[in-house]
Amino acid sequence: MDQSLIEKVYSTDDFEEKGHALINLFSKHLQNTISSEKERVIQWSNPEVELSYWKDFLANKDPKAFFEEVLKRTTHTHHPKYVGHQVAAPAPITVLTGALSSLLNNGMAVYEMGMSPTAMERIVTDKLAEKIGYDSQSRGILTSGGTLANLTALLAARKAKVLHDVWNEGHSQPLGIMVSEQAHYCVDRAAKIMGLGNKGIIKLPVRDNFAMDVDRLEEYYGKAMSQGIHVFAIVGSAPATATGAYDNLEAIGNFAQKHNLWFHVDGAHGGAAIFSEKYMHLLNGIEKSDSVVIDGHKMMLMPTITTALVFKDGSDSHSTFSQKADYLLIDTEEEDWYNGGKRTFECTKSMMSLHWFIILKMYGEEVFDSYLTRQYDLAREFASFLTNETDFELAVEPMSNILCFRWIKPGENLAAINSINESIRQKLLDKGEFYLVQTKLKGVHYLRTSLMNPFTTMDHLKELAHQIRSIGKNHVKTIN
Ligand SMILES: Cc1ncc(COP(=O)(O)O)c(C=O)c1O
Repeated sequence: MDQSLIEKVYSTDDFEEKGHALINLFSKHLQNTISSEKERVIQWSNPEVELSYWKDFLANKDPKAFFEEVLKRTTHTHHPKYVGHQVAAPAPITVLTGALSSLLNNGMAVYEMGMSPTAMERIVTDKLAEKIGYDSQSRGILTSGGTLANLTALLAARKAKVLHDVWNEGHSQPLGIMVSEQAHYCVDRAAKIMGLGNKGIIKLPVRDNFAMDVDRLEEYYGKAMSQGIHVFAIVGSAPATATGAYDNLEAIGNFAQKHNLWFHVDGAHGGAAIFSEKYMHLLNGIEKSDSVVIDGHKMMLMPTITTALVFKDGSDSHSTFSQKADYLLIDTEEEDWYNGGKRTFECTKSMMSLHWFIILKMYGEEVFDSYLTRQYDLAREFASFLTNETDFELAVEPMSNILCFRWIKPGENLAAINSINESIRQKLLDKGEFYLVQTKLKGVHYLRTSLMNPFTTMDHLKELAHQIRSIGKNHVKTIN
């Protein structure tokens, strides 16, 4: 082993020098993006260009340029004109907790490898359980993302509701889950991983507001049963990703109770509304659920990736990955809530509870209320502005901070308008002043904004509408 190379890797002088410089660089980046908006949101470059840039960097460039170049060549969530995907502009303090987690690198699978963050994980998941309306029997975990958390919840559901020991013996009887056709694709993926196949994913149609049509629950359930499918769970979206529409959790909860189904709430995006005095009503019925997923890195100001999965009955959390068929805690035996690896899909995970805990400690739970309420209000204001403009059309009134709309030109057919909106989005991306995304709903192409940034104002959004309109008009001129 080249000991001098190892000494270079672990040089504390070098670390101190680079660390100080990096914090300065990060602060400048935050100032430039948040307040003065000197920077563009994105400097779009195509994948082949980017690939050759970094190949060349690895071979020829000075590593000193590394951090600045990464900052330049990525998308800036702290920029108020970032209105794109559902990831937070992380609270700066969580950049530091992220660094702490990387420094200590406690793997979190067993208590000794992450004592403090394990205790914090219990505290923050207990807090979420209380807000959801669960009692002290509840237990939660933090895990690496909504996708993994939804899969974990559905595995727990199968363990709890299917009498056959599928975990150990596999299953021969067809099993199924019910979910809205607008649910995030990861639910579909989870069901496929569990071997349910297409027929085991019973997709409920949605109403005009893109929320699950709960009047059709009995019909779809009856059809599945008559085909010999044992339906064991139903998932409510809170909200669905594309449109931000919340399913009626109250109705789904009652239905689940009636048929003894596991009721899971995918609140990856908007479960955080449990903290909002104004918008918590969107989650009415969540307390009837058996499990809830909430992403920290979406509406809770944290960096990727951290998700809470909270179970109404803590023993379900303990039995999900148990190798024994019917693991139950013996009354006299101490519950080892502190050995996280037994309850999470991952063995090793980051010390993600540090983010949740420090935000709660420094700013209190009110910060989640202020942030979410502001963003949901802003989406309503933007929607009302667009509604008053004759050349814009909403897909649906927003229920969250996600808003889908399109620019329209009377007289043009659907295909032409679809193509104009697609081109608007590409031109905005090339320009790099705003970053927004797009989606297709029932064959119609929409521009889609997730108002994640706490510094975006109506002035920014009016400017966005103005730019969309002029790109749209120019486009029409060039094709006519
Ligand atoms: C409703 C919903 N569920 C699940 C996910 C997936 O979560 P993650 O990206 O944390 O894996 C998303 C992501 O956008 C989502 O919106």
